[in-house]
Amino acid sequence: MITNICCIGAGYVGGPTMAIIAQKCPHIKVTVVDLNEKRIAAWNDADVNNIPIYEPGLSDVVAEARGRNLFFSTEVDKAIDEAQMIFISVNTPTKTYGVGKGMAADLKYIELCARQIARVAKNDKIVVEKSTLPVRTASAIKDILDNTGNGVQFQILSNPEFLAEGTAVEDLFAPDRVLIGGDTTSEGQNAIQKLVDVYANWVPKGKILTTNVWSSELSKLTANAFLAQRVSSINALSELCEKTGADVNEVAKAIGLDSRIGPKFLKASVGFGGSCFQKDILNLVYIAKSYGLNEVADYWEQVIIMNDHQKRRFANNIIKTLYNTVSGKKIAFLGWAFKKDTNDTRESAAIYVADDLLSEQATVVVYDPKVGEEQIQFDLNYLESRSEIENAKGVQVAINAYDACNNAHAIAVLTEWDEFKTYDWQKIYDNMLKPAFVFDGRNILNKEELEKIGFIYQGIGSR
Ligand code: NAI
Repeated sequence: MITNICCIGAGYVGGPTMAIIAQKCPHIKVTVVDLNEKRIAAWNDADVNNIPIYEPGLSDVVAEARGRNLFFSTEVDKAIDEAQMIFISVNTPTKTYGVGKGMAADLKYIELCARQIARVAKNDKIVVEKSTLPVRTASAIKDILDNTGNGVQFQILSNPEFLAEGTAVEDLFAPDRVLIGGDTTSEGQNAIQKLVDVYANWVPKGKILTTNVWSSELSKLTANAFLAQRVSSINALSELCEKTGADVNEVAKAIGLDSRIGPKFLKASVGFGGSCFQKDILNLVYIAKSYGLNEVADYWEQVIIMNDHQKRRFANNIIKTLYNTVSGKKIAFLGWAFKKDTNDTRESAAIYVADDLLSEQATVVVYDPKVGEEQIQFDLNYLESRSEIENAKGVQVAINAYDACNNAHAIAVLTEWDEFKTYDWQKIYDNMLKPAFVFDGRNILNKEELEKIGFIYQGIGSR
């Protein structure tokens, strides 16, 4: 039986996933390790509200398990040495250099983990791929472990994570399914069973699916590709709705009632963001190309092309509507996170829309309930579109939405935070320049109410 788990990577996946395993399995010691000292210090902060990742309900889970059987540490070797099962949950970003630049997954962090495990391990270990990885990565990890290790036995499992940020705790408590891929040998099956037994502490057995390693690895990329494709599909139609007078919300409702289609992931918006969808589809495209499957690659790449178009179109519409110039105008951004209920901003549509508006010399004033100035400047600087000084001059950060909208020419809603719906919109209107525009990139505000106040309102996918 597994009684000691280590997880390498204390990020958006490693942190919440291990916190729930620890809470649900008090008999297992769970140690989450990371090279990032600041992040580990934040996970260990005496005030549990200061943990580095904002997810509804997460601080309660951490408060219950931390110090009991959940530990956060920078002592990676020690945790590897003591564990029977090691999860690798490090980042796998898109490569920014060399072969596959801008497409392939960068596996350098994964390889470093494999080499470290091989160096440290003195007894048999089960190594679990929690990170999202290209199909067939397990064989590369196995190669490294078997050729650089101390002669101990390793079993590699693939156990991709399907949680969604913003609902991570809910998703981990009651997953639609848990997927575990492993070798078809008896040792492989044995390792699978050990991980099944961990999840079976709270997940019904019928929801734990076991497959071969390659199916498991590829299922994660496929799931993200399908989800993102639905968003791009409805977004593609949102543009046609705007031209024809159809309303994308009505179209989405009408098609979503068809049980073969279903209602989820059919909300038109300024475009999807987040660390996963784009990187995982690009990775899928790259893998397809590397096997010479050009039609397959082109098919999935279109999902990204459509998403980029949707973000750009939103920014262009703001410029066009504001009489073809935003130079010197103040645009208030409500939201910067890539979705509500998270402080994660990776690939957020807000970054790209702001970048386009800054290139047109607008001043952008941002308010997000969970994202601060440092992160916002970091995100913009990462694009390298202009100097850091210019970014700092062009983008300001407000401490509340009313301040952000004060004297603004227009408001752009970039994240669907619930609190935006509860504001005193009359007060906001009174303090804006006229005509006062609202560009609702998430279709969350009440159009009739805003128009009654006097706003010129534009949502996505309707006239
Ligand atoms: P993250 O960037 O939040 O966390 C990764 C952590 O790993 C960082 O704190 C980094 O310092 C640490 N790290 C990197 N190399 C290390 C090493 N050699 N030793 C120790 N620590 C190391 O990334 P996130 O979002 O948690 O994603 C991790 C993986 O999970 C990725 O492959 C991602 O595609 C996948 N995933 C992410 C989901 C999400 O919603 N964010 C959902 C499902 C899967």
